[in-house]
Parts: sequence; C-alpha cells; structure tokens
Amino acid sequence: MANPNARLSLALKACSSNVPENGAMIINANEATDYSRLGEAVCIQWFKPTCDRLIEKGLTTTQDFTSTANFALVEITRSKPQSLGLIAKAFDSIIENSILMVDGKKTDGIESHLKILRNLFDIDGVISKSHGKIFWFKKTQRPKILNQWLQGLEPATVDQGYKTRAGIFSANHIDKASALLLENLPNHLSGKGADLGAGWGYLSNELLKNNDKIKSICLVEADWNALNCAKLNINDSRAKFEWADATHHKDNGYDFIVMNPPFHQSRKAEPDIGKSFIQRASELLSPKGQLWMVANRQLAYETTLDTYFTAVNSITETPQFKVINASRPKKRIFK
Ligand SMILES: C[S@@+](CC[C@H](N)C(=O)[O-])C[C@H]1O[C@@H](n2cnc3c(N)ncnc32)[C@H](O)[C@@H]1O
Repeated sequence: MANPNARLSLALKACSSNVPENGAMIINANEATDYSRLGEAVCIQWFKPTCDRLIEKGLTTTQDFTSTANFALVEITRSKPQSLGLIAKAFDSIIENSILMVDGKKTDGIESHLKILRNLFDIDGVISKSHGKIFWFKKTQRPKILNQWLQGLEPATVDQGYKTRAGIFSANHIDKASALLLENLPNHLSGKGADLGAGWGYLSNELLKNNDKIKSICLVEADWNALNCAKLNINDSRAKFEWADATHHKDNGYDFIVMNPPFHQSRKAEPDIGKSFIQRASELLSPKGQLWMVANRQLAYETTLDTYFTAVNSITETPQFKVINASRPKKRIFK
C-alpha cells in the first residue's frame, strides 16, 4: 500500500536544517500522514470528517490562511486549479527564504505540478516514493502567475448563475443526478427538510424557490468550500447551513430529506458512505417523513433501504441513475 509517511519523512530528513521545530502550516493535511516532526503545525483542512480526525490526533486545524508560517507543506488535491491556488496561498503565507514543500500522488497529478513549478523556481529536492512525489523550494522572488493561480480559488459562475469553487463536487456544472432528482420530486414537499451532502446548494435552492410550503431546509455539507458556495447561492431565510458529517447530524423530526449521497472519497466507489447516509436519514425523519434520493444505478442500496424503511419505491431509472422514494422509517431517533 502507498505510504505517504515514507515520502514525507525522507523529504524532511533531506532538508532537516531548514525545517523549523514549530510554526509550520500544512495545507490539505490528511489523517494518514504523521506530521509530528513538524511540531505544533497548523493544519488547513475543509473536509469535516478529516478535520475531526486531525483534531482527535491533537492537531490544530483551521479552514483559512490567516497566519504567517515559517514552513509550508501543500498536499495537493485532485483539482489542478485548487492545488495551484493553494500553492500560491502557501507561498504568500510563509516568510522569505522558508521552504515550501509540495506532496502528492501521481494519480492526483503531482508530476504535472512539478513540471510547472520547475519552470518558475529552483527546486531544491525531489523524492519519488510510494506512487507519488514530494519536492521543495525556497521562497524567493514571487512570479506574477501566482496572482492568476489565486484567482482560480475565487468563486466562479457556472450554469444558471450558480457560484462554485475549484475542488468542490461538480464545480463546473449542475450535477446530472441532482437535476434528475429535482425533476422527479413531487411539488407538494412541505415542512421541515434537510439536504444531506448539499454541495453548493443546487437542490435546496431550487426547492426553496418553487415551494412556499417548505418551512426550512438544513443544508448539511462536509466540505467547507462547497457550503460557503451554497451560502452565496441561497438567499432565503428558510435555509440553514451546517458544516458537518451528515452521518453525525443530530437535528431530527424532518418531514422530508433529499440527497444525492457521496459515493467515494478516494477514486474508487465506496457504497458504504451512501449506506450510512440512508441509515442516518431513517433516524432523522419523522414517522411520516419521506426520503427522496438519487444514486448511480450500479450502486446496490436496495438492501440497506429495505433495512431502514418499510416502503421503498423506485421513481425512475435512467441508464446512469435511479431515483428512489423511501418512507415509514424503521429506525428513528425522533423525539
Ligand atoms: C454527490 S455530491 C451531491 C452534492 C449536491 N447535493 C448537488 O446536488 O450538487 C455529495 C456531496 O456530499 C458531500 N459529502 C461527502 N461526505 C459527506 C459527509 N460525511 N457528510 C456530509 N456531506 C458529505 C460532498 O462534499 C458532496 O458535496
């Protein structure tokens, strides 16, 4: 199995005299890597479950670049514009002559980042290990292109005027599965609702725009950047925003829940996340509450749906997706 620790510890050893004992910043820190050599580092992380696990490990986390550091490690993301923007932010956040390290997997495009950065900076070292690369350079002159990279982190306008950001789910367009779910939702949804894994707010906004009988929708989303886009996209006091792991969401008594649950956190399909969303939805709904969900057709959620709901109906199927309505939840934590 790929071991990011091996890569980082070799790199830290190779430039040990330039690695401070404290005062480092780790951007997109993950729970699998041991950062203890970096002392009391600040970890920037936007995904709530990862953040929670970093905190459990005793690390300090934040979502913004608010402080100055004397060393930065950028763990690249799967989005090139987001990674370049983060490298630019890290560059601007460290003091002159500090080290900026960039680490990542080949499958996330680390080689192309190295190629781009080699043309701009004197790279002091590169280590290839565990299906990835780590490289570093000193902050000296600031290339102008960094301004363009920073711009890539700003909200951009996509379909129907919606705002999104690089790196979030469906950053370039309205997701087809969510559009299909919306088309198949009844127009009589009313009362208290939740949108689990709400992304940048498409489903909730469209529901609120077209339905006066909805009293509230709680948008529960784990990605801080996506939730902040949802706040830009929804101008309706009935919307509530919660940065949380939906499988731990505690408010309940919902009349309806809509969701297009996540089906992977890495590259491979992980249906267990969707199954946990289904279980949580059954716990959060009121006795007469209804779940409306869309999923990739090949994901086998039917057994889980039958475990947690008495009535499960297929509303429509396309070659790619299926829309399901489930009611009469079996396992509730409704007060
Ligand atoms: C398939 S996307 C759907 C997004 C949105 N509903 C839409 O229609 O565009 C799933 C969303 O769930 C979010 N997510 C992943 N894991 C989560 C978790 N544990 N709790 C809450 N949200 C999560 C992802 O960040 C992503 O925005």
